[in-house]
Parts: sequence; C-alpha cells; structure tokens
Amino acid sequence: MSLEKKDEHDHRAWMEERDLTPIEKSFLVSLLWLDKRFRIVDYLELLENLYYKSNLQMPKSHTEQYNLDNKFWYWYPLYSLGFFSTIAYVVAAVSGALLGFYYAPATAGETAAAYDQVIYIMTDLNFGYMLRSIHRWSAQVMTAAVFLHMLRVYFTGAYKEPRELNWLIGIVLISLTMVFGYTGYLLPWNQLSFWAGQIGVEMALSVPLIGEWAAQLLFGGFTLGQPTLQRMYILHVFFLPFVVTALIAIHIGIVWMQGIAEPH
Ligand code: HEM
Repeated sequence: MSLEKKDEHDHRAWMEERDLTPIEKSFLVSLLWLDKRFRIVDYLELLENLYYKSNLQMPKSHTEQYNLDNKFWYWYPLYSLGFFSTIAYVVAAVSGALLGFYYAPATAGETAAAYDQVIYIMTDLNFGYMLRSIHRWSAQVMTAAVFLHMLRVYFTGAYKEPRELNWLIGIVLISLTMVFGYTGYLLPWNQLSFWAGQIGVEMALSVPLIGEWAAQLLFGGFTLGQPTLQRMYILHVFFLPFVVTALIAIHIGIVWMQGIAEPH
C-alpha cells in the first residue's frame, strides 16, 4: 500500500473508531480533502504560533500588573483618550478620502473652483452635507481628544522614564494635528479660509530674518492665490496623512511594547 493510501486508510479507521456525528464527519472529510491539496493545517499552525508569539509580548493588564484587583481608579476612563483620538483620526481620514472625490483645489475657474465644489457637496451631492459634517466634526473631536489625552499623560506622570520618546512623538503629533486643522480650514476657500490664510502669511512674514523665505515656502508668495491653496491641499491630503498615520502607528507600537504607565 502506498504511503498516501495508508494515510487515507488510517484516517478512515480513526474516524470509524470514534462515534462521530454526520456533521463532525463531513467537517473532517472536507478538512482532509483541503489539507491534501493546500496544506491548510500547516498554515493554520503557523498562524497559531504567530498568534501566541505576538501575545507573549502583550503587556499585562493594569489590574494584573499592579495587583489592583479590588480597586477602581476614577481616572481610568481618561486612559481611553488616546484610543479615542485614533478613532476620530480614522473617521476623518475615511470621510476626507470620500470628500476628495468631489473637491478640486482651484481658486478660479467656472466649475472647478474649490468654493463651488464645496457648495456643490453641501447642496447637490447625495449625503454630501453629512459627509462634510462628519469630516469637520471628527477633525474637531480629534483635536480636543489629543489635547485632553496629553493632559491625562501629563497629570498621571506617564511621560517619565522610560516613556520620554513617546512624549516627544506626542508633541510632534499634536503639532501635526493642528497643521492638519489649519490646512483643512483653508481648503473651502471661503471668507474664513481667506482671512485665516492672510493671518498665516503675516505671521510667517513677521518671523525675523527668514520671514519672507518662510512665507514664500509655505504660502507660495506674500499674497494669497492658487499657489497657496495648492500647497495647503498637498499638505492636507498627501503629506500629513502618511506622516501622521506612521507616527500614530509608532506611538501605539511603543505603548504596546512598554505597557501603560503605573498611575499611582
Ligand atoms: C494623534 C495624536 C495621538 C494619538 C492617536 C495617541 C494615541 C495614544 C494611545 C492609543 C495611547 C495608549 C494609552 C491611552 O490611550 O491613553 C497613548 C499613550 C501615550 N501617549 Fe499618545 N496619542 C496622541 C498624542 C499624544 C500627545 C500629544 C502626547 C504628549 C505630548 C502623547 C503621549 C503619550 C504617552 C507618553 C503615552 C504613554 C502613556 C502611558 O503609558 O500611560 N500622545 N497615545
């Protein structure tokens, strides 16, 4: 008898020895059939190993690590603010990507002007009003949540050794969150956007020595125009999303490796 035939014979004998229900039997027969062709059991084992290996590094829960079995610390809900920031960021990213299908970063032109496109989204596009509102709200919730998260980290002393690096990454993240807000605010190119842009140019120009250079670099000139909007657009939809997503991943990765700080 060939090895394969012997295997099949053994499997059948193994099944017959047991009192299997028809469902169990058909499950096993299909599993064997698939395994013979795609080695799925090997791959499942590989996945299982990976799962256990990665879980080995998971930090213990707070209560386990600090023996707080019977205690509830009233500030614990504030420990969810970092995650809350992440959720708001994901909602903003998804709704922003959808808005991108209808928005055009042009200051002039009959149909392509940014302002007209935003009016179109708000009045004509199905669910457009809702989509833009979700984007604006999630952006504002994110800004507030990130700020409150930073306060939580500060007041629980979670920035101390060995978490200095994550505090510094946090500083970059809150700054970039604000740049996200500012660049996005200019995109509708309405009166609010225009005058916020004007303030930006003047702030840049007021920097000693490098003011003119900074205004040129960031706003594309000393007066607002197409180069300004184009720069804000590229920063908002191309540059920031990649940088912020990568930094959030590193930030949360570090929390995962170090565990949450001891609160007491
Ligand atoms: C986009 C912005 C941010 C996101 C998405 C984010 C996300 C997170 C998450 C999910 C955690 C796990 C614990 C928790 O949720 O509280 C965390 C922890 C931490 N974050 Fe942030 N964070 C951001 C901004 C900041 C800022 C602005 C700072 C401070 C300047 C900061 C410093 C820290 C530190 C030091 C920890 C470790 C805290 C501990 O171990 O208790 N993060 N962050």
